[in-house]
Formats: sequence, structure tokens, C-alpha cells
Amino acid sequence: MELAEKILKLKREKRAIILAHNYQRPEVQEIADYVGDSIELSRKAMDERDAEVIVFAAVDFMAESAAILNPDKRVLLPSRGARCPMAQMLTVDEVKRWKVLYPLAPVVLYVNTLASAKAYCDVCCTSANAVEVIEALNAETVLFGPDRNLAEYVQEKTGKNIIPIPEHGFCPTHLLFHPEDVQALKAQHRDAVVMVHPECSAEMRRIADFIGSTSQMCRYARESQAKTFIVATEEGLLHRLRRENPDKSFILAYEGAVCPNMKLNTLERIYMALKEEKHVVTVPEPIASKARKALEKMFELTGR
Ligand code: 13P
Ligand code: SF4
Repeated sequence: MELAEKILKLKREKRAIILAHNYQRPEVQEIADYVGDSIELSRKAMDERDAEVIVFAAVDFMAESAAILNPDKRVLLPSRGARCPMAQMLTVDEVKRWKVLYPLAPVVLYVNTLASAKAYCDVCCTSANAVEVIEALNAETVLFGPDRNLAEYVQEKTGKNIIPIPEHGFCPTHLLFHPEDVQALKAQHRDAVVMVHPECSAEMRRIADFIGSTSQMCRYARESQAKTFIVATEEGLLHRLRRENPDKSFILAYEGAVCPNMKLNTLERIYMALKEEKHVVTVPEPIASKARKALEKMFELTGR
């Protein structure tokens, strides 16, 4: 039996579902029950009723959010090493330090943070709803972390004073994109539309025709009349874009844009995780309930 078939069989026996982020390997996306961006996957995990086990093919902070939002399920991260480096850039001590400097400013944290940091914020956001969350807050000055690029993007869109915490948090994968590469591609594909993730630099955002989360890019590409798209986000998204739009063409803005952490979830590791029911992701109390409040506040402010 092929590995993919073995996984599907085991999944039925264990009453498991597989949630996969848009950056997962093509073969992982193919066996998943649901493929989406970080907000969609959080909602799916939170609303799941029937399954006993959720295999979360993504990175640490996403699996942690699932465990926080649906504590009755066993959440498995196929590869223990799948950790987002940006999430590690903001420690609890750093959040506390900034709160002392700006005691009246609410703290908004991107979901790309560890649960321990989320426990010290007022509300979470994702790249899909960061602008909406900040607009909904009754405050002109906001502490925002850990992605400085997303902080700047939100400041441009809302006109509010967004203070990045830490000062230079970033995603190493999205920093690989440069406008010169896009210009060179545009010279070959004159009608191409440029889609850029808000984790990219300001220079990249300036040349974008569309800025959005990974699933927002999928929606935009589906609804657009354009036939060619230059895409500035992790390469895994191109599999989904091509599958959903076989008549359109998608070009990665930089060939090396790979998140090595996301790619740790191989079919083999998913199979082993299901078979041995490892690696179970748990978030201890009281961190879990404090972080849950911040995640629920995000759903409340954005109408879910
Ligand atoms: P979204 O899928 O929410 O756009 O997030 C991108 C990302 O980098 C997650 O790690
Ligand atoms: Fe983290 Fe960037 Fe990888 Fe997303 S793409 S998991 S933000 S390192």
C-alpha cells in the first residue's frame, strides 16, 4: 500500500483529520482534509466536533492555537522541529518591557507568536485580518509584534501609530523577495499581476498589485481576469494556485523562497505521527486560557 493510502486508512481508524497550511508540500496538501491560511485553519480546528485527533501539518504556533481553541482534541505536530523562527523573536519579557513603556497602548500580536507571548496580549490577528483588528480598537497607539513589515503595512492602512515589538522582527523566507527580481520577471511577462504577502518588505509592497494573506491571494487569483501572476510568498502556495486555476500561470517571485520549517512535515512523518500518536501539542494553564481570550477577541472583533 502506498504511504498516502496508509495515512488515509490510519486517519479513519483513529478518527483523525489532517489540517495543512498553504505552504505544505504538494503531496501533503493532497491528503489533507482542509488546506488554508492561518485564520482559516484556526477556525477549522476550533469548530471541529467529530474528530478525536487533529494532525496539524504546519508549524508550532499554529498547532498551539488549535490546542488552545479546542482543548478536547489531541493535536499532533508531525515534526517536532517545525518551529517558526519569527515566533521565537518575541519573548514574554520583551512584551512586558514594552508594556511598561506604553502602559495605555493595547498589545496586538500576530498569531505567529508562542502561546506564552499571546497570554500577555489583548488581541491576536493574522495577516488576513490585522488591518480590521487594529481599526476596531479604540486606540491610536498600538504595540504590535513580532513582524515589523506587517506592523508598517497596518500603519500605512490605518494611519494609527503602530509600534513594532521587537523593533526588527521578521520572516526570513519573506525577506528573500526583492523588487529587482520582480522587475526582471515583469519585463518577460508584461501583463502579469504581482501578488505580495504583507510579511514582505515595504519595497515589495510598493510594487504589488495585490497584498494579502495566502488564502486571500487564492481568492484574488480565482476572481481576477488576469492570466499570469507573479507571487511573492512561500513556494508551497503555488501548488494550490495552479490546482485551482489550471488555465492561469503562476510564477514565484524568487525561486528560493522556501520555509524549511513548513517543509519538515513529510508524508513519512505524518504517517509516524498518526501511528504513534506523537508529537502531542499541549499548552499548560493558565497560559492556555489567557491566550484563548486573545484569540477569541480576534474572532469577536472581526465577526469570525
Ligand atoms: P497566512 O497563511 O495566514 O497568510 O500566513 C503566512 C505565514 O507565514 C504563516 O506562517
Ligand atoms: Fe514563520 Fe515565515 Fe515560515 Fe511563516 S513562512 S512559518 S512566518 S518562517
